Amino acid sequence: MTLNLTIRPVEEKDRAAVIAVEGKSMPHWRYVEQVFDQFMSHPNGEFSLAELDGQVVACAKFTVMPEGSAWVETLRVDSDFQGRGIGKALYKRFFEIAKEQNVDTLRMYTGMKNKVSRGLAEHFGFALEASFYGANYSLESAVPIDDHHFKPVTDVSQAIDLLMPLSQEWNGFMVMNRTFYRLTPELCGYLVDHGRIFADPTSNSVIAFGARFMPDVSQHIGLFGGDEAACLRFAKSEGKKRGASSLACLFPVSAESTMAVLKGAGFEETPAGFIVMKGSV
Ligand SMILES: CC(C)(COP(=O)(O)OP(=O)(O)OC[C@H]1O[C@@H](n2cnc3c(N)ncnc32)[C@H](O)[C@@H]1OP(=O)(O)O)[C@@H](O)C(=O)NCCC(=O)NCCS
Repeated sequence: MTLNLTIRPVEEKDRAAVIAVEGKSMPHWRYVEQVFDQFMSHPNGEFSLAELDGQVVACAKFTVMPEGSAWVETLRVDSDFQGRGIGKALYKRFFEIAKEQNVDTLRMYTGMKNKVSRGLAEHFGFALEASFYGANYSLESAVPIDDHHFKPVTDVSQAIDLLMPLSQEWNGFMVMNRTFYRLTPELCGYLVDHGRIFADPTSNSVIAFGARFMPDVSQHIGLFGGDEAACLRFAKSEGKKRGASSLACLFPVSAESTMAVLKGAGFEETPAGFIVMKGSV
């Protein structure tokens, strides 16, 4: 049966409908309401929706990353309309935008247990690139400390020197808000511009820290190295100062010592891990 399906950019008038679609596709993990304005104002890429017979039934976001690849995210199909090819139609739109914007690499993430999302990505030639676990820390009873050691890194070449050696251990990614940023010199420049790298020269420590969105919900530890305990002390204190409810860190499954360090600092492992997949145009 042919679907009367239209894929088009989200407009302001679609706000409530798109938020409702996420509500019907995701039982727990929801954030479209909080990021709607940011997604609408993003200069590159597209916040798209699918309309079936005039009814908004799905949304998806194509975001261009600092090093020029695409991050395809927030794919949501109303549960009443899943399994009818709407997710596939939005994937086709991802590839059209990629061609329009000369983007040759696309990435997405999903939960390790999300077979449909993984299968859909594989249908479009995506392959597993890395597997990550997550850990969270509640800042409810955290106490800010006066830490005079960690300072923002403002020089891009210094940022590159500090972060790039950590690439292998972190499987080539830095994750904030479950957005998997490929660790490249371009990313180091982006993080400097956004004030998200802090270093303590006295202990040779560095941490990528901040939030892509919803900073009051969670602050994110993108990666860290050097004196790991000092990095996490800084993150707890800085997260509390910023008024966040919690800290989050995603780290490679292979980084067993990172899991131990985080657990030792009181972090709790998230119930399921995550995979990041890569596709090519
Ligand atoms: C994942 C999601 C977007 C898929 O959308 P959809 O409209 O139902 O998907 P489509 O009907 O277009 O495509 C289904 C394809 O997924 C894949 N798929 C479906 N079930 C699968 C399974 N159990 N195992 C592996 N692959 C599967 C197949 O490639 C299938 O294509 P086929 O029917 O030709 O074999 C939708 O289920 C959804 O919104 N889920 C909740 C939100 C979510 O998980 N988003 C993903 C990112 S976190």
